[in-house]
Amino acid sequence: MLVLASQKTSMIFNFGSINIDHVYSVPHLPEPGETLTAKTRDMYLGGKGINQSIAISKAGGQVIHTGAVGNDGAWALEQINAMGVDVSSIAEVDTPTGHAIINVDNAAENAIVILSGANACLTDAQISAALSKAEPEDWILVQNETNLVSEIVSQAKVRGCKVAYSAAPFVADVTVSLLDKIDLLVVNEGEADALASALGVTVQNISVPQLLITKGVQGATLTTDEGLFEQAAFSVNAVDTTGAGDTFLGSFLARTDQGDKVQEALRYASAASALQVTRTGAATAIPSRGDVLQFLNAQG
Ligand code: RIB
Repeated sequence: MLVLASQKTSMIFNFGSINIDHVYSVPHLPEPGETLTAKTRDMYLGGKGINQSIAISKAGGQVIHTGAVGNDGAWALEQINAMGVDVSSIAEVDTPTGHAIINVDNAAENAIVILSGANACLTDAQISAALSKAEPEDWILVQNETNLVSEIVSQAKVRGCKVAYSAAPFVADVTVSLLDKIDLLVVNEGEADALASALGVTVQNISVPQLLITKGVQGATLTTDEGLFEQAAFSVNAVDTTGAGDTFLGSFLARTDQGDKVQEALRYASAASALQVTRTGAATAIPSRGDVLQFLNAQG
């Protein structure tokens, strides 16, 4: 039975990456062997994990973010705090904060290279401490940008928590090995195809309780035991699509947890990511709930 529309709200424990994004504005994404001159370079807060936590918080959800930054991480912590996410479960370690090199082209498409840095320094003790506060039916959220993902998922299941897994950057073996413990799997279209191929099934036959596939301008689909829910994308003037999927997932998880019906939560998430791509950067581009509701009202 689908429990997304439960009346009881839960805490969302996100074990996720924190990156400093170095964003280069380029005329097109570089070809192999090509040298390109960027028009601008900007530095933003990013990382799939923290993007999702900020999206949860801005959408009205309750989130505890567990992660790590290096000795250079004061700037990131200030930004996270300013965006309403508690930083008390974020450790400071001796390895530099993770970072991403992001090329964004004139069509708002991107190509991203990450270096894990401190994101690969989560410890068993840190995870156990965070999970000791989790109750059955709370959500545990993970991505593929930190270490110890499979340990987090296993401990979460022992505690009776629900697991949401954003399988990016996509690694087929890891995703397959976690599949039987996942309650909500979130992938883009390419990742869905790659997973289906690794499993030897069609995308429709990927077996998880809830499968959310984000499809960029094609919108998103959610498959549950109640059937297939489809959500179109809103038409906007995109300038940077970095973090749009994170915004969708965080918003959707928060809104369903706050009791919105599935289709209503999908519409909210679609609007949040539509607004997010009209702004530059990842985490800092995620819109407030007020902005999203205003946008939705304007759509009629
Ligand atoms: O999903 C977008 C994010 O991917 C960026 O913020 C970058 O840091 C990488 O983690």
